[in-house]
Amino acid sequence: TKAGIQVAIDGPAGAGKSTVAREVARRLDYLYIDTGAMYRALTWLALQKDIDLNDESALSLLAEATDIRLLPALEGLKVLINGQDVTDAIRLPEVSRHVSQVAAVAGVRVPMVRLQQRLAEECGVVMDGRDICAYVLPRAEVKIFLTASIEERARRRYLEMSAKGVDITLEQLQADIAQRDKEDECRDVAPLVKAEDAQLLDTTGMDREAVVQQVLQMVHKAGG
Ligand code: CDP
Ligand code: CDP
Repeated sequence: TKAGIQVAIDGPAGAGKSTVAREVARRLDYLYIDTGAMYRALTWLALQKDIDLNDESALSLLAEATDIRLLPALEGLKVLINGQDVTDAIRLPEVSRHVSQVAAVAGVRVPMVRLQQRLAEECGVVMDGRDICAYVLPRAEVKIFLTASIEERARRRYLEMSAKGVDITLEQLQADIAQRDKEDECRDVAPLVKAEDAQLLDTTGMDREAVVQQVLQMVHKAGG
């Protein structure tokens, strides 16, 4: 990875943040950081350990004591938690349904944000999540709020899940996504909201390459 600017991308579930951020980072030879994968990994571990998800101090302790790594791999990022590869496991609906609750705990976010900021220090970076523009990388040269209609986001996720053989209906997925967006928008800490200085990019009806091109243009304009 090479020196460069910071590109921050926030938005609701299924908007295409990870797909687009990863591809933009690849083309610029920047580091890609999927912050959602960190919260998902921690949620997976909490479920695995049967931790009560209402127990904020247990979750905070777990977050402080856990080693999360994102390793560049052929197909995106490999996610390791305490050395265990959870790349595929963290995408399952079971994790998706509980991740908002875990991510709403302030004591969980502190070590996660610390890790995210440390990873972004040395090189050009594309980071996606919910609170990146306003909180994690407030000085990012490019800030984007990436979204699409709920129907389109659910359809995209459905195609992805069907291809992986995950048994879930389009209706159930759309309900899960709407519920998670609501939880992310309404929480007290780091709620999902478009930062004032972020550019709105509505990708409804746009294919991946069109979105990647738009983002690359914004990066070039900002000197990256
Ligand atoms: O990929 P998808 O949009 O479904 O979700 P994600 O980016 O993997 O994030 C999963 C969940 O983690 C979100 O619904 C948020 O509750 C939480 N999250 C967060 O709180 N802050 C971030 N910076 C990133 C994710
Ligand atoms: O990270 P986020 O939840 O925002 O979305 P994602 O996981 O990157 O994208 C959700 C699905 O939509 C993936 O299967 C992408 O390949 C697909 N996608 C798409 O069909 N068109 C786009 N413009 C962007 C993503």
